[in-house]
Amino acid sequence: MNPPAPSAASPALLESLVERIDVGVFAVDRDATIALWNRFMAVHSGKSSAEVLGQNLFAVFPELPRPWLQKKLESVFVLGNSAFTLWELRPYLFRFPHTRPITGGLDLMRQNVTFLPLRVSGGSVSLVCGTVFDYTDTAMAHARLQDAIAALSKEKDAQRELIGKLEAAQNQLLQSEKMASIGQLAAGVAHEINNPVGFVNSNLQSLKRYCEQMLSLIAAYQSAEAQISDAALLSTITALKQALDIEFLQEDLPALIKESEDGLVRIKKIVEDLKDFSHVDESDWQHADLNAGLDSTLNVVWNEVKYKARVEKNYGTLPAVACLAAQLNQVFMNLIINAAQSLDQAQGMGTITLSTGHQDDWVWVEVQDTGRGMSEDVKRRIFEPFFTTKPVGQGTGLGMSVSYNIVQKHHGRIELDSAPGQGTRFRVWVPVRQTGEAAP
Ligand SMILES: Nc1ncnc2c1ncn2[C@@H]1O[C@H](COP(=O)(O)OP(=O)(O)OP(=O)(O)O)[C@@H](O)[C@H]1O
Ligand SMILES: [Mg+2]
Repeated sequence: MNPPAPSAASPALLESLVERIDVGVFAVDRDATIALWNRFMAVHSGKSSAEVLGQNLFAVFPELPRPWLQKKLESVFVLGNSAFTLWELRPYLFRFPHTRPITGGLDLMRQNVTFLPLRVSGGSVSLVCGTVFDYTDTAMAHARLQDAIAALSKEKDAQRELIGKLEAAQNQLLQSEKMASIGQLAAGVAHEINNPVGFVNSNLQSLKRYCEQMLSLIAAYQSAEAQISDAALLSTITALKQALDIEFLQEDLPALIKESEDGLVRIKKIVEDLKDFSHVDESDWQHADLNAGLDSTLNVVWNEVKYKARVEKNYGTLPAVACLAAQLNQVFMNLIINAAQSLDQAQGMGTITLSTGHQDDWVWVEVQDTGRGMSEDVKRRIFEPFFTTKPVGQGTGLGMSVSYNIVQKHHGRIELDSAPGQGTRFRVWVPVRQTGEAAP
């Protein structure tokens, strides 16, 4: 016996398939009259095929987006091409309740709907068949995925921020370590120079005394010259005096010694400044005179400043301030160097004004320049680590951020007043006493 030849499925079979398939199937004619309504549609809409067949789709489901859907159906009728709508763009067409929670509560079934042209008697499209696919599960998974992605990217942002903070902290640490070792180096050099300066100074005092004595002896001999009767001896002495230019020697010797003395005084001052500036012996909190700190700092950076600016001082009387003096000196140094760097050499000498004052329990130190000033943008970013407007290799952009941290450590604050072309004024406020410290 031969097996039965394959033949087209019977209409009854197809009908039962359409009826039972887990996809919504419906059809409408050009007037939107419902011509087909399968079980899926009946179950989810709560309206049986007996109730809806022959009825107008929009009359039975007034909640449908009528203008949009009419246009869609019309285009299928006219063009004969299928059309569709996706849940991502239009979450649903029919308001079918769904028992699965999407975002907490009950929500509606997410649907992809396809519109197919049907030509029942050949020729033009006489019906449009809609198939409604339930995409709720996909939508839910998608929502969970979106939540997970959002959480991940939030975490990533937090990590990036943390890494940024770590980098900044590390660099500030490096910078302050660098400053500390510069301080130590300065103090070491100062200490080493101190010894030779000491004995050069004491020798110079002896030398000065001996010279004075010898010069007075020579003067006595000179006044005795008239008594010499030996003509040969006299001419030898006169020739020697001329060759040595003795009058000049007598004049220049005291002047040379005086100049050397002045030079030594200056060296001593530099050594003192280096020591004051570094304060290495005192790395702890101490009571310091900020006017003196400002002066010693200015002397240390004088080379950076002297060709660019006149410095005016306007110091008030200040009480001793509880501080980490070496660190506050770093702040003053950063401010003074920035001020000097802001002065455009093309415009000739500028002015840097250093002022200090005292108000209630606070003292302030101000560094003002007549330099190029800052835009709002620069002012906003000035305390950011690595923010610099200076050419590569010239500024690290750490000066102000380190200064900010030092002032924070003193529970103080930095005020800034600047505008492009108007110069800049920084005022550092620090409390005279730190909290917990007994009043003197
Ligand atoms: N007195 C000032 N006048 C004009 N601009 C200033 C002044 N002080 C700071 N700035 C601006 O703020 C920026 C940051 O200053 P900061 O001292 O932190 O870094 P820097 O001077 O560029 O580099 P570094 O101090 O590390 O060598 C400077 O590049 C500059 O643009
Ligand atoms: Mg700087």
